[in-house]
Amino acid sequence: GAPIEVDLSPVAEGQDIKVFWRGKPIYISHRTKKQIDEARAVNVASLPDPETDEARVKSGHDQWLVVIGICTHLGCIPIAHEGSYDGFFCPCHGSQYDSSGRIRQGPAPANLPVPPYQFVSDTKIQIG
Ligand code: FES
Repeated sequence: GAPIEVDLSPVAEGQDIKVFWRGKPIYISHRTKKQIDEARAVNVASLPDPETDEARVKSGHDQWLVVIGICTHLGCIPIAHEGSYDGFFCPCHGSQYDSSGRIRQGPAPANLPVPPYQFVSDTKIQIG
C-alpha cells in the first residue's frame, strides 16, 4: 500500500480520529496535557511492555499519538477514549491501554504498535 497523508488541523485537543492504512485502522489522538502528563508519570519498569511515552511519539509533537488500532490480544478493535487509563479499551476481553497506547491491564501482551510515520508539516503526517 502507498503512504497516506492525514491533515491533523481539524482534530481538536481531546479528540481522536480513525483512518485506514494498508487496511488497518489507525488511531490518531490529539492528547490533552492531562493525558500526556499521565502517560509520563507512570513507572515504565512496572509496565507489561515497558516503553516510554517519549519513545512512542515524535519529539516536538508530543500531543499526537498515532497507533495501529488492533488489540494485541486477539485482534479486536479497541475503542478510543474509553477505559480506566484515559486511552483505549478493548471490548472483546477487557484489555485497557493508556493514553500512550500501552497495555496496562487485561490479557493483551503488548502495546498498540506505532506505525511508521513522519510529520511533513506542523499539521500533516504521512503514514507509511
Ligand atoms: Fe482485545 Fe482480547 S482481543 S482483549
